[in-house]
Amino acid sequence: MNMNAGTKSGTAAVPAETEVSERVEALLERMSLEEKIGQLTQASGAVWTAGESAEDIIRKGGAGSVLWLNDTKRFNELQKIAVEESPSGIPVLFALDVIHGYRTIFPVPLAMAASWDPAAAEQAQAVAAREARAAGIHWTFGPMLDIARDARWGRIVEGAGEDPCLGAAMAAAQVRGFQGDDLSDPERVLACAKHFAGYGASEGGRDYDPVHLSEAQLRNVYFPPFQAALKAGVATFMSAYMDLNNVPASGNCWLLRDVLREEWGFAGFLVSDAFGVGNLVVEGFARDGRDAALRALKAGVNVDMASATYSENLAGLVESDLISVGEIDEMVRPILATKVQMGLFERPYVDETLLEEVVARPEHRQAARLAAQRSMVLLRNEGGLLPLSKEQKNIAVIGPLADSMVATEGSWMVFGHKPGAVTVLQGIRARLPEANVAYAPGPKIYRDFPHPFGEFDTAAKEPIQTPEAAEAAFQTAVATARGADVVIMVLGEEADMAGEFASRGSLDLPGRQDELLQAVTALGKPVVLVLLNGRPLSINWAAENVPAILEAWEPGTEGGHAVADILFGDVNPGGKLPVCFPRSGSHAPLYYARTLTHLPESSPRYLSRYWDSPTTPLYPFGFGLSYTTFAIANLKVSASQIKVGQTVAVTADVTNTGPVTGDEVVQLYIHQQWGSDSRPMRELKGFARVTLQPGETKPVRFSLGPDELSYWSTNAKGWIQDAAAFDIWIGSDSLATLHADLEVIQ
Ligand code: GLC
Repeated sequence: MNMNAGTKSGTAAVPAETEVSERVEALLERMSLEEKIGQLTQASGAVWTAGESAEDIIRKGGAGSVLWLNDTKRFNELQKIAVEESPSGIPVLFALDVIHGYRTIFPVPLAMAASWDPAAAEQAQAVAAREARAAGIHWTFGPMLDIARDARWGRIVEGAGEDPCLGAAMAAAQVRGFQGDDLSDPERVLACAKHFAGYGASEGGRDYDPVHLSEAQLRNVYFPPFQAALKAGVATFMSAYMDLNNVPASGNCWLLRDVLREEWGFAGFLVSDAFGVGNLVVEGFARDGRDAALRALKAGVNVDMASATYSENLAGLVESDLISVGEIDEMVRPILATKVQMGLFERPYVDETLLEEVVARPEHRQAARLAAQRSMVLLRNEGGLLPLSKEQKNIAVIGPLADSMVATEGSWMVFGHKPGAVTVLQGIRARLPEANVAYAPGPKIYRDFPHPFGEFDTAAKEPIQTPEAAEAAFQTAVATARGADVVIMVLGEEADMAGEFASRGSLDLPGRQDELLQAVTALGKPVVLVLLNGRPLSINWAAENVPAILEAWEPGTEGGHAVADILFGDVNPGGKLPVCFPRSGSHAPLYYARTLTHLPESSPRYLSRYWDSPTTPLYPFGFGLSYTTFAIANLKVSASQIKVGQTVAVTADVTNTGPVTGDEVVQLYIHQQWGSDSRPMRELKGFARVTLQPGETKPVRFSLGPDELSYWSTNAKGWIQDAAAFDIWIGSDSLATLHADLEVIQ
């Protein structure tokens, strides 16, 4: 918890820690048990508890926070009741999922991770915070920090991919962006490290399914982004939905008390995921709501999100002496402390004229365009087809996502958001106003099973396209392509095909997209494939047959402009993959940081782990091309031998050996050759995105010390640093070959 004792924020001095605790204790003194339980209750703003109105709940102090409400005027109405009519006048926190933008939409978090640019991620979330706070929102349920190594899992879109080093850097950057360094800053929101922990390892990539992870996997892979968020001062955590080793995260004392509080010293507060406390019964863990409330509270869940299990059971548990008032107070304290630190008691209301002024600031869309440009990854560019000439006169833009604002903005829009993105088609037409830019969507694409949240989507639903209409659209698209000099195919996934409750068994392009791509490519014209998607896709045919492929992800409000900036050479793409692209969904989970096995891929006898397909990824972790070329050389280690506990510097030079300015992401990997445990064949331990003019050389410098060389050992049942020999590689992706040795001795 960032207790900024006495530092001055934009408008009022932040209370010193002693003042905060004095005010909290004074509040607790006068609060009734019902009010204290109210602070532990988060009410659903979308569907109010049956039988009670929002006003009644707030008036009795029955909810310390409200989620799923996005209405500035309504925020003030309810806040006025809380402040002026509830027994202790404690302001309410309004919370919402502002995952990658409030009104100005940024690239989805997986795309932001592909920028390998924490500063860009920080700026994006600072803009999101400014807009959300101007709307009256105090608390976002982000950043999502779940390491994801199974691309079938729909929520891979919300995180930073497969790697703990990159994930930790993005975690800290997002927390800084959302929260700043002063909780009383009226342009920031509380951040929430979610979903603690291990959710990304849901079996089969099936959302919500059980997770079985060893303590070593949790501590070496899944925890680091959460620890980085905590170190960056994250004010809140959220416990995950699923069973972790048969114990639901929201009832998991080891996770929420032993690790999060005792070991890591977290002093903020933790909210369950939606209905997570009540669902302890559904998961077959708790006997009934009373048991669920008891075990969640004992485990360390401060706030019950939307299930009303606390409000229905905690008073009775106190009366039965199963929970003490002291235990209730312990859970309420950090919530009150945070409200005091935010200055909510002094400034509970939001200026209802502020949002439109804030949203109109030009720097917001400029930041969104820059973020989108930096997140895109050039996967293929045979023959230098890209960048396309701006003198093009006759272009065809083909595909069901080419003119879709929803697909361009991607998943996790805030309640009531009206799509406003610049589509790829619009971006291309804006860039080449003189050219003839024809468009044909081709057949529509659909989920096989409708999205369960679809009922909340008020947008008018078009009728499902008939097979006949789809065939006609297919032929029209091919005909449109036939009439052009160059074809830009915009394919991928709809926004509801990744995200929550959006897992899938296959990673292929949905519908007839691959068929359409092959039909258009068969015309023999230059074809560029632009992907709009929230997860890796097994674009095996395209990878062999389409000369140019740009991974644009779900790039947000300025996505269409950013795609055009890259396609026509105003921007040189420099993004790198934060997650590998499997050749098939059946290969997942697939990730680079695996241990060697007795038949490693380097073995001459190694052919493939499957006899029916290669098991190498289509595109490896850290991969991305550029319109220029780079050379990385002169790898040096400051000492070939160090003692356990010492640190060594690793340097190299990166040169732009090509014709245009560009960014290279230089990556440092290690492999510990033996030790207490087998260690991954490669592990990212440092990275730097460097901009170079043609011919320019710059040094890059990393350090390797106990933090990078220690790990949690299954064998030793604790953190250790072995004396061992290490491989060190530096390069432009996880297959880096520039090598040095390091020996660590006792
Ligand atoms: C959802 C998600 C979580 C989100 C919460 C509130 O089900 O799992 O990420 O923050 O509920 O919307």
